[in-house]
Amino acid sequence: MIEGARLDGKVMVTGGAGYIGSHAVLALLDAGYQMVVVDSLVTGFAWAVDPRATLVEMAVEDPQMAGVIAEHGVRAIMHFAGSVVVPESVSDPLKYYRNNTAATRSLIESAVATGVPHFIFSSTAATYGTPARVPVAEGDPTVPINPYGWSKLMSEAMLRDVAAAHPLNYGALRYFNVAGADPQGRSGQSTVGATHLIKIAVEAAIGKRGGVGVFGTDFDTPDGTGVRDYIHVSDLAAAHVAMLEKLVAEPTASHTYNVGYGRGFSVNQVLDAVDRVTNLTIERRYEGRRAGDPAALVADNRAILAALPWRPGRDDLDTIVADALAWERRLAERA
Ligand code: UFG
Repeated sequence: MIEGARLDGKVMVTGGAGYIGSHAVLALLDAGYQMVVVDSLVTGFAWAVDPRATLVEMAVEDPQMAGVIAEHGVRAIMHFAGSVVVPESVSDPLKYYRNNTAATRSLIESAVATGVPHFIFSSTAATYGTPARVPVAEGDPTVPINPYGWSKLMSEAMLRDVAAAHPLNYGALRYFNVAGADPQGRSGQSTVGATHLIKIAVEAAIGKRGGVGVFGTDFDTPDGTGVRDYIHVSDLAAAHVAMLEKLVAEPTASHTYNVGYGRGFSVNQVLDAVDRVTNLTIERRYEGRRAGDPAALVADNRAILAALPWRPGRDDLDTIVADALAWERRLAERA
């Protein structure tokens, strides 16, 4: 914790019943914060919210939001709620501009109206589009290549402008490829119809699907498959707590940080890790490229490492895969 920084009220976590949000709830609880979770439960699950947190089933743009903020004495908002499927954002862009951009505008308005001083926003490496260089740094050009990335970049712009006009500071965290699950087995990626590589691979490992399609073998990468910076969801959640403490300690400064480990693994390297961890040979079907996939996306994470006391604790591909697998088995037992 940054010396002297303590929030004088509760944290509101929107989307706290979802994958990343539920892990942020755990990290905040473990750090001693009190919180209220707001989630519409359209894609999230009430059971994913730790019972020590209060759950309000509501959309973030609900007219009652300001009342909920005031009633609970909220002094910081972590905003995870939103839509996250990149191909869907291409086929239904207005859903993304509604659920991400417009809903965030409404939430920021509620925050300003009630005098909430700190705001942490779930942003994404998709704001860079096809990065100008790898690793990509926060000051590099942001030219999204899909509506999802634009919907998040527009939200970043609103926060920048609002922080200049009102007494509110913010942290925008640009996530790279989030994977894994709570090491204590309290939460994990539970969304049905997964599209993310590690989730798909562990589903294959437990027999939920026959194998894994490898989307593209002719990228300009060492083995021709796409390279990504996979970060453990618990490390990502911890970064939010560290970000909050900086915003509280230094209330006039706002920040935008990449959150990744700063190193990339190819699709084949990920599938090798899954084979190693499971002692299986999961079938790989080599297919053509998926539309809109950049060859490589890796974080330059020097800014966050310099600014926050945050240090990755589970920066190991096999650990990420093992935690994802353990959660997938729990989910299968639950079903
Ligand atoms: N991949 C496969 N087979 C699959 C699924 C994925 O080969 O079945 C490949 C992809 O082509 C890519 C890599 O695995 O090379 C990772 O793909 P994911 O779908 O897991 O993740 P993305 O990199 O596409 O998406 C992530 C975030 C998004 C964000 C995007 C920015 O999950 O929220 O990065 O590019 F928008």
